[in-house]
Amino acid sequence: MAAWASRSSDMRGVGHEMEHETRRISAICGAAALLLGACGGNDSALAPEGPGAERIAGITWVMFVVATVITAGVLALLVVALFRRRARRDGDAEPDDTDRRTERWVIAGGVVLPVVVLVPVAALAVAVLDDAPASELRIEVVAHQYWWEYRYPDLGVVTANELHIPAGETVTLEMRSDDVVHSLWVPALGGKTDLVPGRTTTMTLEADDPGTFQGRCAEYCGLQHAKMLFLVVAQGEDDFADWVDAQGRDAVSDPSASAGADLFAEAGCASCHTVRGTEADGPVGPDLTHIASRRTLGAGVLDNDPDGLRRWIGETWEVKDGITMPPVPLTDEEVDAIASYLETLE
Ligand code: CUA
Repeated sequence: MAAWASRSSDMRGVGHEMEHETRRISAICGAAALLLGACGGNDSALAPEGPGAERIAGITWVMFVVATVITAGVLALLVVALFRRRARRDGDAEPDDTDRRTERWVIAGGVVLPVVVLVPVAALAVAVLDDAPASELRIEVVAHQYWWEYRYPDLGVVTANELHIPAGETVTLEMRSDDVVHSLWVPALGGKTDLVPGRTTTMTLEADDPGTFQGRCAEYCGLQHAKMLFLVVAQGEDDFADWVDAQGRDAVSDPSASAGADLFAEAGCASCHTVRGTEADGPVGPDLTHIASRRTLGAGVLDNDPDGLRRWIGETWEVKDGITMPPVPLTDEEVDAIASYLETLE
């Protein structure tokens, strides 16, 4: 084959590869968009739906405008300087005069301008920090590699990966970590706060209206950091009261799922997970007393539907490699029985 022909066929190979790669990347992006879409909920700090996020968005826009004006000013000065220099080469300016003018520019640009810009911005930031409202509901948050535990000590509720709050009310999150540093972030509702081992940090959260909001871990915490998602479900007063009432109850045992319940104990699930009202009182993994009421599994990784549940039990590490829950060897029938049992835990 002629050299050019072989080269062109090589190029075609490269072209193909690039095309393939582009297609692969857009498939991944599409899948990611679908995954995030499936998780549901507003995920944008620039579409605030609570007072905390509104304050942050306000500061963001002020800083954006200030930065834009300063950038435009610097560019304008640069253009002026370029032309002035050319002009000076032709004419002959008085050196003393130029020195004095330079000095004025240095003082104005290096001292006066930063003070005028930074002092109000700093004052605004302090005012916003001081503005934290008093809270009516206290929720304990424990971060684990890689899921979120929520405890409502005054209401007798323990749940995971789905934080329910009353809309229009401020709640206080008392947060700790079980292992490494994590960070809780609900972009549409507020800022980030770290959860640090051996320490309790607090933050307040409020949603203006009922709705579902995407939350995530915002501090790299290990292999599955990106799959440490959660939902915030803000509910009206009555809906929230109903939710608290249902979540506070023990699990109701359904005789049709007794085979799965037995297997749940025998396969070792019960030594890590708690199902209140049964023998299962494991303290390691998420409380499963009302697992069927939650929208996602594995901290936002799968939809909580029959398929998702069977995948999560049967292919745990294919879905989320390296987590504390070990892959338990189960037959399809056993996976099905355990899933059927968990589906009764509403
Ligand atoms: Cu937890 Cu990142």
